Amino acid sequence: MSNWIEACATNDIDEEDLTRWDHEEKTYAIYNTENGFFTTDGMCTHEEQHLEDGLVTGDVIECPLHQGRFNIVTGKALSAPVCIDLKTYPTKVEGGKVYVQVSA
Ligand code: FES
Repeated sequence: MSNWIEACATNDIDEEDLTRWDHEEKTYAIYNTENGFFTTDGMCTHEEQHLEDGLVTGDVIECPLHQGRFNIVTGKALSAPVCIDLKTYPTKVEGGKVYVQVSA
């Protein structure tokens, strides 16, 4: 079962940036890109580093610790040292709010 959860307002996230969102013991990263809003797991798959201070360029997030890169839309690991993809979550915008579909 999945639920759409209101995570933040669209204007809480600058363009080409991301924000951290914590919900029920999990932490996520929500991105505002030129192609829309997207959500991935918040923690890098390499080590225990949150992506919230990472650099967004187009559809790519670069981890702040070792500069591993992921595709924001697919979660695919793009460059060393990351080799495990990020999990992604359906994301939609309605009425100026960002909603994320998380597994119940
Ligand atoms: S912790 Fe993210 S690349 Fe190492």
